[in-house]
Amino acid sequence: MEIFGNDRHKIIHGEALQALTTLANNSVDLIFADPPYNIGKNFNGHKDRWATEEDYLEWCYKWLDLCVQKLKSNGSFYVMTATQFMPFFDIYLRKRLNILSRLVWYYDSSGVQAKKYYGSMYEPILFCVKDKDKYTFNTEDILVEAKTGAKRKLIDYRKTIPTVYNSEKVPGNVWEYARVRYRMDEYENHPTQKPIALLERIIKASSNVGDLVVDPFSGTFTTCFVAKELGRNSIGIELQDEYVKIGLRRLQLAKEFKGEKLQKEIRTFETVKLATANNLKLFEETHGKYIHNKH
Ligand SMILES: C[S@@+](CC[C@H](N)C(=O)[O-])C[C@H]1O[C@@H](n2cnc3c(N)ncnc32)[C@H](O)[C@@H]1O
Repeated sequence: MEIFGNDRHKIIHGEALQALTTLANNSVDLIFADPPYNIGKNFNGHKDRWATEEDYLEWCYKWLDLCVQKLKSNGSFYVMTATQFMPFFDIYLRKRLNILSRLVWYYDSSGVQAKKYYGSMYEPILFCVKDKDKYTFNTEDILVEAKTGAKRKLIDYRKTIPTVYNSEKVPGNVWEYARVRYRMDEYENHPTQKPIALLERIIKASSNVGDLVVDPFSGTFTTCFVAKELGRNSIGIELQDEYVKIGLRRLQLAKEFKGEKLQKEIRTFETVKLATANNLKLFEETHGKYIHNKH
């Protein structure tokens, strides 16, 4: 296990169970956990598949317990997994925490083209707290437009003094955010990268500036990146070298890793753009020179 970073942002390059054990109990304000889903994704050569579903759940229960243990008494926990495993998480966690919302991250995915059944267009997220009477929830920071109030300017005549409906509201439990696609600026080379916007809502709602946010399965370190942007502190844990490199770069914690310069991978369309720009530059140089020589 190797630790990188500074007082505010740490990356633990290691296994989640081992790394979580090293954190102090009751020390974390917000945990966002997006583990492997046991659906056969390829995490840099490491297969996301357990021998049996029971084995997967047994492993999950271990890190779920650790997350509960590390959370402060007023802390919040957001956890994801595949739709088929979420009911098990739900039953396990509601004996240990208070589940306040069962969220659906909905996306319109052109990649989903099931023909003989209904393609999956969402991922579930549980939002839990330790103490349902004392937890951070920054309503003002996550308000969204209330369509009825904002657009139709209806008046609520049931009130003693008739009032215009609110134009803003707390988001409901279905959240629509586009999946991270290859052409998006935030794209990194990882099969299950989560969108910045999703983490922005979670971190803004359930933590304050200076709070500690932990992500035990960091992947591209979206959670830690957003935590840093929003002035929170962060600890991100990740097993794979390739993804730790992304984290070190995204969080600007290092310029090199084991002697290798950390740079964002150039995407195919950027190579074409770069080549066109270089050709244009070359053309302008020779053309300019040609014109210059004529006069
Ligand atoms: C679903 S992805 C997380 C994606 C992340 N939320 C993002 O936005 O990029 C799960 C990550 O957990 C990592 N992982 C798998 N098993 C692990 C373990 N035992 N300890 C730490 N990380 C692990 C994988 O390498 C993968 O990057």
